[in-house]
Amino acid sequence: MTITLAIETSCDETSCAVIKDGREVLSNIISSQIEIHRKFGGVVPEVASRKHIENINLIIQEALDEANITFDDVDLVGVTRGPGLVGALLVGISSAKAIAYGINKPLIGVNHIEGHICANYIEHKDLEPPFTCLVVSGGHTYLAQAEDYTEYELVGRTRDDAAGEAFDKVARALGLSYPGGPLIDKLSKEGNKDAIDFPRVYLEHDSYDFSFSGLKTAVLNYLNGAKQKGEEIIVKDVAASFQQAVIEVLVDKTFRLAKERKSNKIVMAGGVAANEGLRNMMESRGREENIDILYPSRILCTDNAAMIGAAAYFNYMKGRVSDYYLNVVPNLELR
Ligand code: KG4
Ligand code: ZN
Repeated sequence: MTITLAIETSCDETSCAVIKDGREVLSNIISSQIEIHRKFGGVVPEVASRKHIENINLIIQEALDEANITFDDVDLVGVTRGPGLVGALLVGISSAKAIAYGINKPLIGVNHIEGHICANYIEHKDLEPPFTCLVVSGGHTYLAQAEDYTEYELVGRTRDDAAGEAFDKVARALGLSYPGGPLIDKLSKEGNKDAIDFPRVYLEHDSYDFSFSGLKTAVLNYLNGAKQKGEEIIVKDVAASFQQAVIEVLVDKTFRLAKERKSNKIVMAGGVAANEGLRNMMESRGREENIDILYPSRILCTDNAAMIGAAAYFNYMKGRVSDYYLNVVPNLELR
């Protein structure tokens, strides 16, 4: 049995988890700073770092207590080393180093994006690579082929805004609060997705990359035009039409890759994988094409340390251990 203590502080969640054998969550404490950042309309990096420092020791203790263990029971210490906010990441990494040194156990620096993918190993106990993978978070949009537990072939990525970023920016333009993704998701259920014909951006015909900034501009132009003409803006219709334009492209490209690679599994990860419209469209296409669609439960979609613990475990199994020079890498790539 391997017990991993994992720490995640890449953005605005201070989180610590205890994971058994990479797949079983003994505790997953998440302290969100969303209420603090909401009044600024987004995450303020300096504020995030300070809040992590205030919270981290309490969250670590809570994770140990809830798992009913002490530091003596910990076999591995996993921590997010990037991508993320530099000051925020440093808080987690410093704590993890101190613990690993103190208990004389291996330290494993984890890629946050890989963590999002590994959330699926917790959710789906029998899931094994290979699979086609769509990572859609607030900061990243990646299409990848997972070859093995820690091996990914990065096939496509966003060339500008991330999917979640587009949701948040459009939500802001619609007067919704931060983070806007879940609110757009909710409004879309009542709105008409065909009300406004926003562009579907596919780029070059064989490209697996994404681009969402043109769509965001199209929504802003639509809102400005309607305001100038004195037309009524039906927020739920704008939300539904925007969401449809995003998810159609995500689903199309993911299925094209899955079919090209003869993959029978599509795995989704990241905050936007919580989107109900995206889940529904993926699942109905999956039924048509005979491809299994997997995603984590909502709490494991958004930032949490359990997913970092899973990723740390699988990296450890591959012999990837960090030393005490481990540093943060704010723009760390998937590979
Ligand atoms: O993965 P995550 O927690 O943080 C990053 O690593 O970036 O993702 C947060 C993003 C935010 O942009 C948020 O608006 C979006 O995920 N999000 C959603 C939904 N829930 C969270 N976007 C669309 N629909 C949702 N239900
Ligand atoms: Zn994340």
